Parts: sequence; C-alpha cells; structure tokens
Amino acid sequence: MSRIGFIGTGHIATPIARFLAAKGHQISVTERNSQVSAQLKAEIGATVAAPQSVVDACDMVFLCLRPHMATEILTPLTFRTDQQIISVMAAISANELATLCAPASDFVQTIPLGFLQSGGCPLAAFGNDRLLAGLFEPENPVIKVADEAALNAHFAICAMVPGFLDLMTTGANWLAEETGDVHGAEFFTTQLFSGFLTAMEKGKAGQLAEERDALATDGTLSLQMTEALRLGKAHEALLGALTAIGKRLET
Ligand SMILES: NC(=O)c1ccc[n+]([C@@H]2O[C@H](COP(=O)([O-])OP(=O)(O)OC[C@H]3O[C@@H](n4cnc5c(N)ncnc54)[C@H](OP(=O)(O)O)[C@@H]3O)[C@@H](O)[C@H]2O)c1
Repeated sequence: MSRIGFIGTGHIATPIARFLAAKGHQISVTERNSQVSAQLKAEIGATVAAPQSVVDACDMVFLCLRPHMATEILTPLTFRTDQQIISVMAAISANELATLCAPASDFVQTIPLGFLQSGGCPLAAFGNDRLLAGLFEPENPVIKVADEAALNAHFAICAMVPGFLDLMTTGANWLAEETGDVHGAEFFTTQLFSGFLTAMEKGKAGQLAEERDALATDGTLSLQMTEALRLGKAHEALLGALTAIGKRLET
C-alpha cells in the first residue's frame, strides 16, 4: 500500500484515484475542484488538503493539472528526493518536470483515459514504466515508449478517440433517422464497434488491415464504404490532424 497524492482533482484524476483506492492505496487530493474532492472523500476516504500538504503526505504524486496552470501551481511546492512523480499532463516536458519537481528525480509520464478504472486502457509510459506497471497492471497494460516524441505521438493517437466518437455519432444519428429508434441506433452502433474490437486479436502488426480486407472484398458494401472514405479524403484528414497535434505538442 502506498500513500498517493493528486495535484489537480478533475476529470482524469477521479477515475485514477478510484482505481488506486480499490487496490488498497491511501489517497490524498487537492481541494479544487471542491465538488469532486468532497465526492472522493465520501466515496473512497480520500484526504482533502492544500497542494503542499498533499505532497508532504505522499510517496507518489500524480500531476493532473491543465498544462497552462502547471508552472504556476507547481513552482511554489517543495518536493522530496525520495518521491515518485507521475505526470499525465500533455505538453509538459521531462525537463520542465525535473525543474518543477526538483529534487525529486523519479518520473514517469503517461496518458490515461478515464476507462482505466474498469481496465483495458493501454498506458504509454515514458520514464519509470515499472512504477506505472506496479500501480496499473494487470488490468491496464503499460507500453514503454523510447522518448518524448513517441509519447507525444501516443497523445495524438489518444485524440483519435473523440474524433472517432464524433464520426460514430454521425453514423448513429443517420441510423436513428432511418429507423426512428434513437436509443436502438446508439446501442447498435456502439455495441457493433465494442464487440468487434473486443473479439479482435490485438498486438499483431497488420491485424487491422487484415480485418478490413476480410470484410471489404469485391462487390461488398464494406468495400463501397472504405473506397468512399478514401475518395472523400478521410485518411488525409486524419493524418493531417495527427501531424498537427504532434507539432502542437512539440512546442
Ligand atoms: N481528461 C482526460 O481524459 C485526460 C486524459 C489524459 C491526460 N489528461 C491530462 O490531464 C490533465 C488534466 O486534465 P483534466 O481533463 O482532468 O482537467 P480538469 O478536469 O480541468 O482538472 C484540472 C483540475 O485542476 C484543478 N485546479 C485548478 N487550479 C488549481 C490550483 N490552483 N490548485 C489546485 N488545483 C487546481 C481544477 O480545479 P477547478 O475545476 O476548481 O479549476 C481541476 O480540478 C491535463 O494536462 C490533460 O492533458 C486528461
């Protein structure tokens, strides 16, 4: 059992805190957002305290602040040499973290999504990946990345999730208009993708293309769909967005 603190108690800190509390860890959180911290106090027995008190009370500290707030909030805090730091903040570099959290020097940067609480969330890890694995595996697989550029590329891929949800919403809305069944359309569309991806073998290079080609054979509706999306430049749009997000994270 470790004493684990959160600086920034918002959307992403909440499921992480719940997951780690369920594993038996002792959780401390900063007060803001006060509604969320009060909920975590009631739900998982989290201690609610000022940022410095959270740092002082913990062995491991999660940094879950919006990037533009990080310097202002972390600069006045005093960390310890023996502390381990987990940052989930996009666009805050390893060098910046080392400066902001000195003399602490044991870091890992990762990109969780909220569904890690129920397991199955891949966690890209730059830095001390073993620290992350000790906290989140076996429920959530940790994938070590070689450098910050690779971590940022994983951040860009994570942004594909809302992008694809947006496309799925368009599809589900079209289905609802055709059938008049809004709930059925949303359920069918969601279950179709989650069921397909759950059944699919993962981790083998080329598997996505193989699954596509098994469906999109000559004369099929599936091939009509993949070709129409190519003609409509959907792939160029996706690659353009990934490149632009990657560049934004470089700066
Ligand atoms: N959301 C995700 O799914 C996700 C996924 C991966 C990574 N991330 C990263 O996680 C970080 C946080 O994102 P988020 O979505 O969780 O944002 P968020 O919900 O806005 O959480 C940020 C938290 O910081 C608090 N805060 C603001 N000023 C503070 C201060 N002076 N002292 C202490 N706490 C303060 C906010 O409180 P108030 O609400 O009172 O301002 C809020 O609780 C970002 O860097 C993001 O890149 C998020």
